[in-house]
Amino acid sequence: MTDRYAVIGNPIGHSKSPLIHAEFARQTGQDLSYEALLAPLDGFAATVEHFFAEGGKGLNVTVPFKHEAWNLATKRTPRAIDAEAVNTLMVLPEGGILGDNTDGAGLVRDLQYNLRFPLKGRRVLLMGAGGAAWGVSGPLLHEEPGTLFVANRTVDKAQLLVRHFTRFEKFSMQTTTAVSYQELENQQFDLIINATSASLSDALPPLPKGVFAPGSLAYDMMYGKGLTPFLKFAQQQGAAHLADGLGMLVEQAAESFFLWRGVRPDTAPVIALLKP
Ligand code: ATR
Repeated sequence: MTDRYAVIGNPIGHSKSPLIHAEFARQTGQDLSYEALLAPLDGFAATVEHFFAEGGKGLNVTVPFKHEAWNLATKRTPRAIDAEAVNTLMVLPEGGILGDNTDGAGLVRDLQYNLRFPLKGRRVLLMGAGGAAWGVSGPLLHEEPGTLFVANRTVDKAQLLVRHFTRFEKFSMQTTTAVSYQELENQQFDLIINATSASLSDALPPLPKGVFAPGSLAYDMMYGKGLTPFLKFAQQQGAAHLADGLGMLVEQAAESFFLWRGVRPDTAPVIALLKP
């Protein structure tokens, strides 16, 4: 019987996940269907329960339900526990629902494998301290960058994030610092990741000039047609490499697919297919 999967969110109409997973299934010969599921803002848990009661096997979870999904899971992977957010749900054979978070793994895989940018020892700046930044901080720290600065307009939120992650013994040895954007004057980074939602409103986080080190990579977790304001700024400021979040999107999907099906799809042709 064909196994059912879906992505659940609100809004969900523009999600590329059904196309990505259909390509993965075709490529690997897996017998599954994958749809987009709109949940009412006050009806996430009921929609999930209905989907699983009807025999659904797994869900991807997107905005704004990743924290609710974390609460709903009866068992969580270590990386979901770290992120306090879940983007992948799976029915367990023994009963219950497993919650995982594949966002950070997707980002790290895009950086290190697709873009050939090793993180170890690098000076990394993460902009933003909302759900997107929480989702990727653990896997980034796991790769042992030399320093991780977390900049946010509301510095308290960056401090909260840094306190949360440095609490774990596995990350506590690393230099992780919460800063305001003003404090980035006279600092330079090998990698700057935009995990803010600024690009959604065509805005640019208030980065000072001169923050891109020679050979640096500017990475925007958002994607779309053309360069985001952050990537345009990075280009003007001499960043050597620019990347948007399309690779991360496909890689986090592949990681979910692997969890569900035990098969790792080839992401390169799917990234190529989705490139505008
Ligand atoms: P998400 O789940 O996408 O992370 P979120 O939890 O609402 O969404 O967080 C949005 C993040 O983008 C926050 O870090 C926010 O900064 P503040 O906490 O200071 O509000 C950041 N953000 C949004 N618009 C921004 C802008 N124009 N410049 C800089 N940061 C911005």
